[in-house]
Amino acid sequence: MTNIAGFQSVGVVGGGQMGAGIAQVCATYGLKTILVDINPKQIETARTGIAGSLEKLSTKNVITAEQKIAAIGSLAYSSDLSALKDCDLVIEAIVENERIKTELFQTLDKLTKPTCVLASNTSSIPITRLGAATTRPDKFIGMHFMNPVPLMKLVEVIPGMATSEDTTRRILDLAAGLGKETSRSADYPGFVVNRILMPMINEAFNALMEGVATAEDIDKGMKLGTNQPMGPLTLADFIGLDTCYAILKVLHEGLGDPRYRPSPLLAKHVEAGWFGRKTKRGVYKY
Ligand SMILES: NC(=O)c1ccc[n+]([C@@H]2O[C@H](COP(=O)([O-])OP(=O)(O)OC[C@H]3O[C@@H](n4cnc5c(N)ncnc54)[C@H](O)[C@@H]3O)[C@@H](O)[C@H]2O)c1
Repeated sequence: MTNIAGFQSVGVVGGGQMGAGIAQVCATYGLKTILVDINPKQIETARTGIAGSLEKLSTKNVITAEQKIAAIGSLAYSSDLSALKDCDLVIEAIVENERIKTELFQTLDKLTKPTCVLASNTSSIPITRLGAATTRPDKFIGMHFMNPVPLMKLVEVIPGMATSEDTTRRILDLAAGLGKETSRSADYPGFVVNRILMPMINEAFNALMEGVATAEDIDKGMKLGTNQPMGPLTLADFIGLDTCYAILKVLHEGLGDPRYRPSPLLAKHVEAGWFGRKTKRGVYKY
């Protein structure tokens, strides 16, 4: 059985765009992986999405045909959290809401074996606070994958105040074993990636709101003018406007600086249920 940094079996909770990608990568590298979502429809969406992505990656020779077959064989799905009781590691990738994540971690804390490491893929919620809600803050850590997980190289690793060095080292080794590069950030709001990325996305919404330019021109300006793969509004639709809004609220509250206040136009999109690609409408229509 494959063993990376002492981890043989991994549970992933949340089968949305991030959770499905994380489960896919863990399974591609041979780890016994279980993906859990409370929504059975989402499990089917994840199953189909993962199969399609593995097919595409193997056609493009990003993964081997053996890895594709191994991934499908290593991956199980469930809507029941108790399927995770024997896991060595559980990575949470549910909605960006501290109350819901805390409740989930308290349940996972009771359900999993004491040696199991608990990790959150949160974009911004304090790791120390989530870990403190469990009886194992030393085995609790932030493991922030980037979207789309099978293609993006980075995992931002965020130890909380009480995370042990052993846990941090194992998670850094695991990420490397999954073919990723890692960066290490301290547990401050938004860590590094979102603390710097979200103000740019927010400013793009404010520029759009003030009529400085059209959405297309804002994206074109930033894409071609600053050599980014896509403009900030396209990227926001890709991340999920609900997720961007939640992260900005955490930055605003946590850092107490008005420059992080979410743009009213971003808030309006979220109120309208226009969350981006995943709801087929965000700044753009899909
Ligand atoms: N979208 C991004 O680009 C991105 C990047 C890095 C990190 N993140 C973080 O990853 C997490 C997930 O984001 P996403 O974009 O995949 O969201 P998403 O909305 O695509 O998926 C969330 C999934 O969680 C499930 N869920 C909700 N509550 C649950 C529960 N109690 N138990 C089990 N499943 C539950 C939902 O059914 C849904 O399938 C968030 O914390 C987000 O901040 C997102």
